[in-house]
Amino acid sequence: MPKTPPKKLYIETLGCAMNQRDSEHMIAELNREEPYELTDQINTADLILINTCSVREKPVSKLFSEIGIFNKHKKEGAKIGVCGCTASHLGDEVIRRAPSVDFVLGARNVSRINEVLHRPHAVEVEIDYDESTYAFGEYRNTPLKAMVNITIGCDKSCTYCIVPHTRGEEVSIPHTLIVREITKAVEGGAREVMLLGQNVNGYGRRFGAGGAGEDAPRDFTELLQIISRIDGLERIRFQSPHPLHMDDAFLHEFATNPKICKQIHVPLQSGSTRILRAMKRGYTQENFLERCAKIRHLAPDATISTDVIVGFPGESEEDFDATMAVLEAVRFDQMFSFKYSPRPLTEAAEFTAQVPDEIAGARLRRLQARHNEILVEVMDAQMGRVHRVYFEELKSGGRIAGRADDGKLVFVEGSEALLGQIRDVEITHTSRAALDGRVI
Ligand code: 5AD
Ligand code: SF4
Repeated sequence: MPKTPPKKLYIETLGCAMNQRDSEHMIAELNREEPYELTDQINTADLILINTCSVREKPVSKLFSEIGIFNKHKKEGAKIGVCGCTASHLGDEVIRRAPSVDFVLGARNVSRINEVLHRPHAVEVEIDYDESTYAFGEYRNTPLKAMVNITIGCDKSCTYCIVPHTRGEEVSIPHTLIVREITKAVEGGAREVMLLGQNVNGYGRRFGAGGAGEDAPRDFTELLQIISRIDGLERIRFQSPHPLHMDDAFLHEFATNPKICKQIHVPLQSGSTRILRAMKRGYTQENFLERCAKIRHLAPDATISTDVIVGFPGESEEDFDATMAVLEAVRFDQMFSFKYSPRPLTEAAEFTAQVPDEIAGARLRRLQARHNEILVEVMDAQMGRVHRVYFEELKSGGRIAGRADDGKLVFVEGSEALLGQIRDVEITHTSRAALDGRVI
């Protein structure tokens, strides 16, 4: 009998690294039942998945027009599934507004993809569903590095953020499962791991029904020590810590453990202590600057990246100047900056002193323009330096891309033979976004 060809899957992943890993998990789970092949052409797909993000309003409003387009171009009988944070947040409203959607699967229900696939108009968005010990199938976009969840959910109550409402309470994954997953990835060729959690320093506070297991690490620092003992694993990254919970023991581990890459994301959100209080971030401008100064002192070559929100309700010119002052003091190596976007279910959406859009827009432009100037200086200073680069991706024109230990994107001329190798590269050209160099 002729073999039936694999089904085709079109999957769009918006938002953060957590969503990227959720997409890998869904692909793995689908493949347990029958083989799927990825496609980037809607009209050939048997299944279309949109893994959504709800952190800002724009992608949410685009979702429904996108579903309309997918529905128009999809082939007869193909299914459309809406997954991720907007699925969690809107639930069956997705199907009410877009009846062409076949199922809705929340960010905390990823393991149930096969179940909803076969139930017409299924909606599974249970917020306290516990997937912390679920043994997901194996699938990774690349064998060279692995994303591994260490916590799911978020226990914080930042007043601007919808995530605790879409991903639920924070639960840590037992360290034995984390170590097993990383070991498997290393056996498959990965030399680098990216540990994922909404607040990685929250690790160890709460576990699911099975508990933490024997010899459980007490916190994130101990987890890092355990993970760094895995043979064959050479690089550890993590995303994201919370400035409030970066204690001295953690910073010391970060700075001195040779397997931990010297790249750290320290989300500022605002430089104004008054606004930080309204955001319920739990630290002041002073605390934040002190933590960053400590990182610079302990690990002078580390890159520090950040997230900033401008135009939070009540933000005055003076508050915004405080954010600019933190930028000048820390000189972030990378900055992701956003205009505040009121989100349903959040406290700040009810605050009355919303900042007019033109003012928020002008502040964002000012912040980004100054950061661009800083970036030129930061990157120019890399000229002639030598970085250890892990080569990950073949590019067109005989070029190959990799990441330096500090996370910088580096291009060299080279062939496939370099893929998966870690080599010293001398930087010969710099730009704001990336470095060029030659292998030495
Ligand atoms: N408006 C704008 N930006 C937001 N973020 C989270 N919630 C909002 C919001 N309501 C940003 C934060 C966070 C990043 C992932 O998205 O900076 O760190
Ligand atoms: Fe990730 Fe937050 Fe977007 Fe959810 S809302 S996908 S947690 S960035």
